[in-house]
Amino acid sequence: MAGQIPRQFIDELLARTDIVELIDQRVPLKKAGRNYAACCPFHSEKSPSFTVSPDKQFYHCFGCGAHGNAISFMMEFEQLEFVEAIEELAQQHHLEVPREQGAGPKRPAAQADDYHLMQQAAEFYQQQLQSHPNAGMVQQYVAKRGLSSKTLADFAIGYAPDGWDNLLKRLSPTNHKALRDQLFELRLINRNDNGREYDFFRERLMFPIRDKRGRVIAFGGRVLGDGTPKYLNSPESRLFHKGRELYGLYEVRQQPGHVEQILVVEGYMDVVALAEHDIRFAVACLGTATTSDHMHTLFRYTPKVVCCYDGDRAGRDAAWRALQSALPQLKDGVELNFVFLPDGEDPDSLVQKEGKDAFLQRIASAMPLNQYFFEHLVQEFDPATDAGKSALSVKAAELIKQIPSEFYRDSLSDKLANLLGKPRERTKAAVNRASNRVKPAAMKITPMRRAIGLLLQYPNLANVMPDAPELGEANIPGIGLLLALQQRLQQQPDLTTAQLIEQWRDLPEHSILMTLAAWDHQIEPEQLSQEFVDTFHSIEDQYLQQRLEALERKDKLQQLSKAEWHEYKLLLQALKSKKPKLAN
Ligand code: UTP
Ligand code: MN
Repeated sequence: MAGQIPRQFIDELLARTDIVELIDQRVPLKKAGRNYAACCPFHSEKSPSFTVSPDKQFYHCFGCGAHGNAISFMMEFEQLEFVEAIEELAQQHHLEVPREQGAGPKRPAAQADDYHLMQQAAEFYQQQLQSHPNAGMVQQYVAKRGLSSKTLADFAIGYAPDGWDNLLKRLSPTNHKALRDQLFELRLINRNDNGREYDFFRERLMFPIRDKRGRVIAFGGRVLGDGTPKYLNSPESRLFHKGRELYGLYEVRQQPGHVEQILVVEGYMDVVALAEHDIRFAVACLGTATTSDHMHTLFRYTPKVVCCYDGDRAGRDAAWRALQSALPQLKDGVELNFVFLPDGEDPDSLVQKEGKDAFLQRIASAMPLNQYFFEHLVQEFDPATDAGKSALSVKAAELIKQIPSEFYRDSLSDKLANLLGKPRERTKAAVNRASNRVKPAAMKITPMRRAIGLLLQYPNLANVMPDAPELGEANIPGIGLLLALQQRLQQQPDLTTAQLIEQWRDLPEHSILMTLAAWDHQIEPEQLSQEFVDTFHSIEDQYLQQRLEALERKDKLQQLSKAEWHEYKLLLQALKSKKPKLAN
């Protein structure tokens, strides 16, 4: 593992990033008072409830409750991991992401050159396809499969030669331990129990898997004959997460213009063969089922996804699984269709057989989601019997309720009602009752939450906040968090809301901080400071009261010391001189 990214760097990055500009580039914003607004990119809506605050450097959706800072936005919107989001933001500011020394085992070559090694491997395989003594044989195989040199180049397809350590020797000519460790971590090489190291891919046709930015993160390798396994894929590594990547997506995005539709197929060869026939909008999942993450990614690049699976049993199962994963991603305005190929065919074999136009025709007449949904269900449950009807209705409602789009929910509910011969309103009500869409829960605002919320939203309130470290021993939930925020702001008075929250990202308090940062307090700006100080005093009173009660309890069990008596009297006086109303 590479070292941690220093806290300071993350602060710096958030200070340089303007969240309004960042979001506006992706979701056009309109000025609305002090803030900016848009229709929420995270749920489907017709009137804007997504707001971005330039002061807090924070976004919040009143409709679905999504909220966060610039890093959270990148993670959510661009589907990035935390570190990837940092890297992306850093790149926009031409900054190098530093790593702390000492965290984890040291390796001089850090994550940054992981991509470089993967790229070198890909280039090595490509060269071998041209120059290896076996190149003629491999070229023959490739030609038999109908691939031109243009397609080979477009997809950077190569050849991993026979032999144990061709790649190993090329990438690590001297026996450099750290570098070999890195190659092993990237799964370019394997190690056996005796510590012997050898190339992971040998004697295979190599398909580099690229991430959304075009960086090679893994490989798929096909045997050049009938051996097993037919395809060998890179295991997951720190660069490669199967459930999130789609083979060919980068290449689809290289096409000029708007991506009108994306075709999801099963295999590498399908993607490549379709491209050979100038059908350049296909992607493949990497030997896994199509996940909800995949669907989310796809619908970010196109409004229309067509799932195209083989005509066999496995293909049909894959299609139904894809449908289920897609349901939570169905927003208004997107379209999901299904193509079923004749048994025994795949897109590769079919496009070779019948050509581009006939294949495009199949895609054009794909089965819409609404139809496939019920075609599948009635195979499982027989709507001619009462038992079948009720099971069908339960199953369908359970699936329909996962769909965020009202249009799809309504239209599927209507069809369901039709199928069951029920009044449509009742079916709809049943689905709505079952619907568990997230609504931001109303939160009770205790004095502690009020204090934390205000300090978080207006970090300069730290200037009027009394120093009261003794509160740390109070038994009031949240006091530790409040004092920790104060301490941070004493050290770094210029932190924004977004930067403050960032420091808690991996801690359990993060979620309440996010909620409080978005809390609509409805306090007039000129009252803020007084309100905050009053709230703080009421928390102090709560602590004094606790202390008083503790002394009273002690007095009943044993004598109070002189000092304790003194404290007790002071506490009584202090609490009497204040308003009798204590915080609860
Ligand atoms: P298929 O077996 O359908 O292969 O696997 P294919 O795409 O038709 O390939 P060719 O035409 O025989 O060359 C589809 C996908 O399933 C994964 C691969 O991602 C492959 O592209 N798979 C298949 C594996 O991961 N391992 C295997 O052994 C087989
Ligand atoms: Mn095939």
